Amino acid sequence: MQFKTKTLAQQVAIVTGGGTGIGRAFTEALAKAGTTVVIASRRKDVLHQTADDINTNLGYERVFPYAFDIRDFDQVEALVHYTLGRWSAVDLLINNSGLAVPEEVHAITEAGWDTVMDTNLRGAMRLVRAVLPSMTAHDFGDIINVASQAGKHGYADVPSYCASKFGLLGFAESLRDHLRKTGANIRVFNFCPGLVDVEHTRREDAPRDGFIHVANLARALLFVLSLDRNVVVEDLNLYSR
Ligand SMILES: NC(=O)c1ccc[n+]([C@@H]2O[C@H](COP(=O)([O-])OP(=O)(O)OC[C@H]3O[C@@H](n4cnc5c(N)ncnc54)[C@H](OP(=O)(O)O)[C@@H]3O)[C@@H](O)[C@H]2O)c1
Repeated sequence: MQFKTKTLAQQVAIVTGGGTGIGRAFTEALAKAGTTVVIASRRKDVLHQTADDINTNLGYERVFPYAFDIRDFDQVEALVHYTLGRWSAVDLLINNSGLAVPEEVHAITEAGWDTVMDTNLRGAMRLVRAVLPSMTAHDFGDIINVASQAGKHGYADVPSYCASKFGLLGFAESLRDHLRKTGANIRVFNFCPGLVDVEHTRREDAPRDGFIHVANLARALLFVLSLDRNVVVEDLNLYSR
């Protein structure tokens, strides 16, 4: 079966949390490849600074900042509406926004649990639900979920974070099964990194002991996206050996 393809330069991406850390590394790599990238998270100043830095370095405008809170239903819908209204497609969704509230099991607060679940899991689900009709109509799309090794192993200091990342992987499995059954040309990749150094990010920086350089995430992204449309790397486990 022949699947529709698009080059990265023909694609429009939404990268949540694209202003910092792993999301920023993804954004730089995609923009360099010519992808139009909407970076979305709460801090407007951070988003604008990142977009300015990358666009200035490239000498053309590929990165567009959009302030939103992934925990707010209307703001999630508005982000997708804005992107579709301006570029008519969302070809690539990178669910990267995420946080941890370190509370051990006996000390979990309702507020802490809700913050983590709403950001890492409910937010990703809402974005997938919002982009799916357009991806299906265009018969093209890729969804990257940034989970974690904490989605594969439980850690005592961050139980809500682990639960959210395990949940994200479970949601991705169901999504894949749905897409298989509908025959849609939409792939779902999960990134499950161990510790990633998001402080020493310049090319020449050495990562801290036990961490990997964030550039490896960007290289892995370009690699999985370059695979044939009938190939999916379900979970990518990346950690310092
Ligand atoms: N670094 C690691 O070692 C590591 C390892 C495994 C997995 N991960 C995962 O990788 C992803 C990126 O993390 P990172 O390490 O690059 O850290 P980071 O720089 O703190 O990135 C997290 C991003 O999420 C955004 N965010 C947080 N709450 C949000 C909200 N309510 N609405 C919209 N955006 C929100 C933040 O932007 P605002 O604060 O401006 O909203 C920020 O840009 C996360 O999902 C994390 O769980 C990281």
